[in-house]
Amino acid sequence: MTPSTLVSRIGELFKLRGNSEYGGESVTQLEHALQCAALAEQHQAPPELIVAALLHDVGHLLHELPDDAPDQGVDDHHEKSGYRYLEKYFDQAVTEPVRQHVDAKRYLCAVDPEYAAQLSEPSQVSLALQGGPMSATELSEFRQTPFWQESLQLRKWDDQAKVVDLATPPLEHFLAFIDPLVVSTDEVAQ
Ligand SMILES: [Fe+2]
Repeated sequence: MTPSTLVSRIGELFKLRGNSEYGGESVTQLEHALQCAALAEQHQAPPELIVAALLHDVGHLLHELPDDAPDQGVDDHHEKSGYRYLEKYFDQAVTEPVRQHVDAKRYLCAVDPEYAAQLSEPSQVSLALQGGPMSATELSEFRQTPFWQESLQLRKWDDQAKVVDLATPPLEHFLAFIDPLVVSTDEVAQ
């Protein structure tokens, strides 16, 4: 597989599955991904973080759980499935913020009460399923992980990327960032 084949596959994934509702919010998965990537680009984030923003919820597109799984007490662990998918192709500058974006919410809730108070209701429901705010030990462990500050940054854009009918650049604009960042396209059993 070439990098451009991977880009096409990711584009297809969004086209096939991106119209599903984003976890109880009023935007679709595709709208949420585009808004998150647009925020990263507006903040002059490096390309790796723009791609991480675009793909941070790719795990939601890879599974068959219903959109309202958190309301039913099910945590889909989408950050782990997304990370496992992406680590085949990208280095840590892309994959770590994806892997950490749920723990980043737990981090921010522990250190910033104002952040916790502004979370949307679906986000608060999933926080409880994800383990609640971090303990002091977990906070210091989190600060030892690579790209932890980028993970917090991505999380804040993630939380903002839920605006109904917001205009963004199209998917193709952000897919163009992917190709130069692909470090491996070794075919794994499909
Ligand atoms: Fe998200």
